[in-house]
Amino acid sequence: MTLACVPLGCSTDPNASMSFPSRGDYRAAPMSEPVTIIGGSGALGCALAARLGAAGVPVTIGSRDAGRAANVAGRLREAIPDGTFVGDANGPAATASDLVLLCVPFRSQVETLAQIKDRLREGQLLVDATVPLAAAVAGRATRILGVWQGSAAQQAAELTPDGVRVVSALHTVSAAVLADLGLELSEDVLVCGDRRADKARVASLLERIPGLRCVDCGRLESARIVESLTALLIGVNGRYKTHAGIRLTGLPDRLWPDR
Ligand SMILES: NC(=O)c1ccc[n+]([C@@H]2O[C@H](COP(=O)([O-])OP(=O)(O)OC[C@H]3O[C@@H](n4cnc5c(N)ncnc54)[C@H](OP(=O)(O)O)[C@@H]3O)[C@@H](O)[C@H]2O)c1
Repeated sequence: MTLACVPLGCSTDPNASMSFPSRGDYRAAPMSEPVTIIGGSGALGCALAARLGAAGVPVTIGSRDAGRAANVAGRLREAIPDGTFVGDANGPAATASDLVLLCVPFRSQVETLAQIKDRLREGQLLVDATVPLAAAVAGRATRILGVWQGSAAQQAAELTPDGVRVVSALHTVSAAVLADLGLELSEDVLVCGDRRADKARVASLLERIPGLRCVDCGRLESARIVESLTALLIGVNGRYKTHAGIRLTGLPDRLWPDR
């Protein structure tokens, strides 16, 4: 069933309407390891939560406001009855899963990581989706800010405790496309990180969403290239009035042979 599900439905306004498929349209696949989405009340985080929840992944929504997180989780449960969604303040939410997705604006990335830093523990994997768009400092969304560490993902790695590794992913996947649960996806997720096993773990999670294919794009330092693609896509989207994604050609069928 195709539906009008816009990312604004995942607005930070707890009273905002959220349009998802009717009950029963989505049947969750078997459970996988749980994930936490910090910024899960936002456009990308909420849409991702819906897609992952529908794919059988238990999701904890993290927010600066525990009430907002609970509200979003409640609406996701209503929309996807077979899914498992809970909501909590960012701090406790960060302890709830070994996989923590960070989906907050660049301007609040440092502040958010400072808030959750003491809650993160060795062995956890932080999946960073942050794009350092110039819009964070009232500039153009089609431009990228220079980040001293090289990329937002490397900045995140610098701010996380020892033993918490960072993988960057999801920058080129549109929240609007994810939020339209009736839309069949067919695009790549460009994944960067310093350990192949970490990237494979993230690929296992994200490829539970039908139509997403994860591509190993190298070490975390390559995140600066991938992050800049978002600015490029925003320009393309503006020109063609669409929500374009990325699809690499010529790749082998099995991209994660050791998985
Ligand atoms: N939207 C997309 O299509 C897309 C695609 C790929 C990557 N990204 C990247 O993913 C990240 C999240 O994007 P988004 O569009 O989901 O962002 P968003 O909706 O504007 O914000 C996401 C969440 O971040 C939290 N937040 C924490 N500090 C904030 C602050 N100072 N101002 C506003 N919100 C704050 C809010 O949650 P609480 O208030 O509940 O804490 C908010 O719901 C960004 O870095 C973006 O560049 C976005």
